[in-house]
Amino acid sequence: MRKKIIAGNWKMNKNLNEGADLVNELLEIITSSSMDVEVILGVPFTHLYMLASISDKFSVSAQNCSSQVSGAFTGEISANMIQSTGAKYVILGHSERRAYHQENNANLVKKVDLCLSHNLKVIYCCGELLSERNSGNHFETVKSQIEEALFHLNPEQISNIVIAYEPVWAIGTGVTASSDQAQEMHAYIRSIFKDKYGLNIGKYLSILYGGSCNPSNAHEIFSKEDVDGGLIGGASLNANDFSQIINAF
Ligand code: 13P
Repeated sequence: MRKKIIAGNWKMNKNLNEGADLVNELLEIITSSSMDVEVILGVPFTHLYMLASISDKFSVSAQNCSSQVSGAFTGEISANMIQSTGAKYVILGHSERRAYHQENNANLVKKVDLCLSHNLKVIYCCGELLSERNSGNHFETVKSQIEEALFHLNPEQISNIVIAYEPVWAIGTGVTASSDQAQEMHAYIRSIFKDKYGLNIGKYLSILYGGSCNPSNAHEIFSKEDVDGGLIGGASLNANDFSQIINAF
């Protein structure tokens, strides 16, 4: 049985007080019927420790981690530090980090390995640019993002990976992929995991959709066979919107 997951990605939004207010509001709204869905909040590093122990209704995720173990890397946050906050997940390979912080498949290998060796699950983001989709290269792009950063892992390690397919052209633009486009790519992603690791991994791997997902389109997207949930940016900053998305299956 594949796990259904709704993960929020707050990005660089909400100071500590605002974050606490949002979570308190959310906790009042999330009902027990939402609870066959795992809720994850991807929050700034500064919020991890405070939010990790507040409630068992959600898990907390970092949005990045250092590719180094420890040492003279001013301003960096290690996997070990993240684990010590009580966080359970780390989002890696987000397109904003690939675009603005020189993240690439090679340094992501190191980050993935460090997270897994610290018992942190990884939400690994992949997705094509508009130009890649328009030139018909979207499957190849996503395939190499996955192969180059993840396919050195063994099957047990892969069971601690969640994939988030986020077409770059749909992130923060208000233009979402159609549910058919999402389904097509999710089925493709699942097929490459099946080819590499066998049927079982393909069956259990959760694949989330991200990119302008909101309360109006979530149900349609999540109704597709290979879509197991969402990685939600803007709409995760509003408790009402986010809880509607959690209830959208
Ligand atoms: P939006 O939902 O704001 O488009 O952001 C998606 C995203 O980047 C989640 O990681």
